[in-house]
Amino acid sequence: MSIHAIRGRLVWFTADPFVDGARSLRHEADGIVAIDAGRITRVGPAAEIFAHLPENCPVTHYPGCLISPGFIDTHVHYAQTGIVGAHGAQLLDWLTEYAYPAEAEMADRPKADAMARAFCDELIRNGTTTALVFCTVFPESVDALFEEAARRNLRLIGGKVLMDRNAPAALLDTARSSYDQSKALIKKWHGRGRASYAITPRFAPTSTPEQLELAGALWAEHPDVYVHSHLSENAAECAWVRELFPDSDRYIDVYESFGLTGRRAVYAHGVHLADEDFALCHHTGTALAHCPTSNLFLGSGLFNLGAATRADRRVHVGLGTDIGAGTSFSILATLNEAYKVAQMTGSALDGVHGWYLATRGAAEALDLAGTIGSLEPGCEADMVVVDPQATPLLKLRAERCQSIEELLFVLMTLGDDRAIRATYVAGAKAPAYVTTSNPQ
Ligand code: GUN
Ligand code: ZN
Repeated sequence: MSIHAIRGRLVWFTADPFVDGARSLRHEADGIVAIDAGRITRVGPAAEIFAHLPENCPVTHYPGCLISPGFIDTHVHYAQTGIVGAHGAQLLDWLTEYAYPAEAEMADRPKADAMARAFCDELIRNGTTTALVFCTVFPESVDALFEEAARRNLRLIGGKVLMDRNAPAALLDTARSSYDQSKALIKKWHGRGRASYAITPRFAPTSTPEQLELAGALWAEHPDVYVHSHLSENAAECAWVRELFPDSDRYIDVYESFGLTGRRAVYAHGVHLADEDFALCHHTGTALAHCPTSNLFLGSGLFNLGAATRADRRVHVGLGTDIGAGTSFSILATLNEAYKVAQMTGSALDGVHGWYLATRGAAEALDLAGTIGSLEPGCEADMVVVDPQATPLLKLRAERCQSIEELLFVLMTLGDDRAIRATYVAGAKAPAYVTTSNPQ
């Protein structure tokens, strides 16, 4: 199918509501998105767009459903898909007890293939069309993810984890091997189809200064790839970083000193950041991934979204599910927790600002505005169809909504994978979910 269209209630953004206010939201109560060769060619009121469609152009109608740009997950670990809901530990113990053993299993390529399949199934079931993904230390685990994403034409960003200390021996590389392997993977994958590469030092405690130095050098050689890591998630982690890097005044200074901050650098968490840290992110263009379900689950703390998004020194922010410390693949469920965390930190995230973070805001954070995250003509046709009648309670509640703003907020409070009616990847409706089981 080349030229085709979908019809429903359209929502997207033309600007940043944190800076420009709520009028950045665009809404067509009965709209059409026209698609050709995987890209959006026209968007607007159904009556108007109909007139421009070729004769016999197929139009798929989703009456009563919202059509939005696909959700974007700016921080997630595919190898941790099988360990969601591991009881009782905070970050550093959780890594040792649960995350590292799960990642060690990915040395076995068939297991990595099966996990990549299950992971991509979950993204699509949840209406997520782009993700920034941690793989594992094994280069083959990167191949497993990108090969699976290519089969589905998904726009994913991912990379091999760099870790040369303070982790189990089976998961360690060296400064040199991490540089060489990452460089080879950039050559193999970056810009191939819809794949983009991210240089992925796990976090400061598991890299020597030599490894971070080489990571910075590699980024300088390939400035169009991403940097993806963790920052200031947990109090014990922050204390450990102070011990390991006594010459750095602040956690983020460690990354800054190795040339690892800037546009296309994305750091997950940022729970324990001070004003000067947000200012550094603002000035350098460094993005933060807000991971509320993970931060609550591991008891890490409350991200200060209000401080991060202050209009006078706006920091790029996306939402991260952070599976497997996070508890849901759903960006809607993630927004539900983001609202509660915002309440606890003195701001009230509304449906407009929340939906922006899930779509265009995340695209901005990933330096992909104009490519994804919007329904504007020229963008890739990655879209999600959301059904406000998907559950009895949603239906009951949605019927009372007086405005699109109210409906967006209700969806972010009550919605999850059940509300996802369809996911479109580069213009094609993604095939139905295939049940997966644990890799044997
Ligand atoms: N910090 C370093 N590694 C990890 C990880 O795998 N998950 C989370 N949540 N934080 C981390
Ligand atoms: Zn993480």
